[in-house]
Parts: sequence; structure tokens; C-alpha cells
Amino acid sequence: MTLAGIAASLMGTTAQASPNRIVRLNKIKVGATFPFQLANGAPALLFRTKTGFFAYQTICTHQGGLTKYFSAKKLLICPIHNASFNPFKKGAVVTGPATNPLPTVKVAVKSGWVVLI
Ligand code: FES
Repeated sequence: MTLAGIAASLMGTTAQASPNRIVRLNKIKVGATFPFQLANGAPALLFRTKTGFFAYQTICTHQGGLTKYFSAKKLLICPIHNASFNPFKKGAVVTGPATNPLPTVKVAVKSGWVVLI
């Protein structure tokens, strides 16, 4: 260990697992979703399809309800006023009262992990 590493260790600042890591690539199958939290505590949901990964913050853009993914309908639906969003079309609103899509969360695959970018 380097002197800097020892100093960092003593100060409790040793490097930990990257905070950008969401899930190991081999822990999410094609067609599956994986819930996670953003650094600000906001809930988010990761999707894996045949073509790759994408993710959204899952707080409803209407008045802040927590949307839930219904795989049979392929929609994220808010239980407060029933707005629905299509995660396969950039989080677009399918039914209101929401008017704005769910915010996308940028992700990528890096060194065997799905990570935030
Ligand atoms: S808060 Fe989600 S539809 Fe109103």
C-alpha cells in the first residue's frame, strides 16, 4: 500500500465500490428490470432488453407519485391519478394527467457492471 493509501485508510477514505455501479451485468437478465436509487435518493428502474439497457427515475411527473412497472402492460403506472408511461418510448406519457415523460437516467456497461454515466 502506498503512503497515500495508508493515509487514506487511516482517515477512513479508502476507495469503496464505485457509487456509479448499479448492478452486475450477469445479475440482470434480458427482459428483466432492476430497481435502484439515485445519489439524491430518488427511485429509479433499470431495464434490460435484447438491445441494451435504459433507466428512468420513477417519480411521476404529475405530482410526484411513485410509479410501478407492470410488465404485462409494459407500462409504468402511477397509483395516484393513474398516469402511465411507456419505458420503451423514452418514458413518454401514454395516459395523463401527467404531461411530461419520466426523466431518463443515463446508464452504460463498464467492466461487467451497469453503471450510471
Ligand atoms: S401523481 Fe402521478 S398521476 Fe398524479
